[in-house]
Amino acid sequence: MRKNIVAGNWKMNNDLKATRKLVKQIRKSIKGEDLNNTRVIVAPTFVNLATAVKRSKKSKLEVAAQNMHQATNGAYTGEISADMLKSIGVKTVILGHSERRAYFGETDALLAEKVNAALANKLEVIFCFGEELADRKAGNEEAVVEGQIKNALFHLDANAYKNIVLAYEPVWAIGTGETASPEQAQDMHAFIRKTLSAKYGNDVADSVSILYGGSVKPANAKEIFSKADVDGGLIGGASLKAEDFHAIITAF
Ligand code: PGA
Repeated sequence: MRKNIVAGNWKMNNDLKATRKLVKQIRKSIKGEDLNNTRVIVAPTFVNLATAVKRSKKSKLEVAAQNMHQATNGAYTGEISADMLKSIGVKTVILGHSERRAYFGETDALLAEKVNAALANKLEVIFCFGEELADRKAGNEEAVVEGQIKNALFHLDANAYKNIVLAYEPVWAIGTGETASPEQAQDMHAFIRKTLSAKYGNDVADSVSILYGGSVKPANAKEIFSKADVDGGLIGGASLKAEDFHAIITAF
């Protein structure tokens, strides 16, 4: 059975002190909680990953990186490799976030390389994709999403999907306060599963967790998560407050 996942993408927020504090608050808030088949993940900035990993040991909280470089090592000033993440105990990496695509020029082709590097290093990938507002207005959202998935993931064999989580994040709903309606999310998630099924069969399609991201908050989480093909959320803004994040985790 596929897992539910609530993952907090902290983006470029929280210094060392704030990281320690928030990890501690989240740890405490889920301790003794029946998480009901739900994994809880936070993704702090690179510099605070090691601290977050250490401070979430012996708890249900998992730690992910927000990005990584595709090369094993070498002359890539300012970059971080899969191996480095692994060496500090990180097991999951977010790839393809729309902010990486928009501000740092990450393309489907580059993301395919990053996905390969992560999987080769036995890191789990939370792979993000989603259409822009203009795509949706033009009725092209399914074609855009299908293209993003095919270009970055369809070279993989079925087995690889044991280590892949998908995150549908319509760009127009990220950080804007505007959320896709639960029906819009469900429709797209069902389409994503159908796309996976056509290529890999139902077993793979049914086993992959598909998260929704874009202005998820305590007030709307329950309804979005109640949809059949929505297996959780990738949460930005609301993951920075322990109370809100906890309310979202327990929305399942
Ligand atoms: P948001 O961000 O929840 O602040 O809209 C979501 C994301 O970027 O993953």
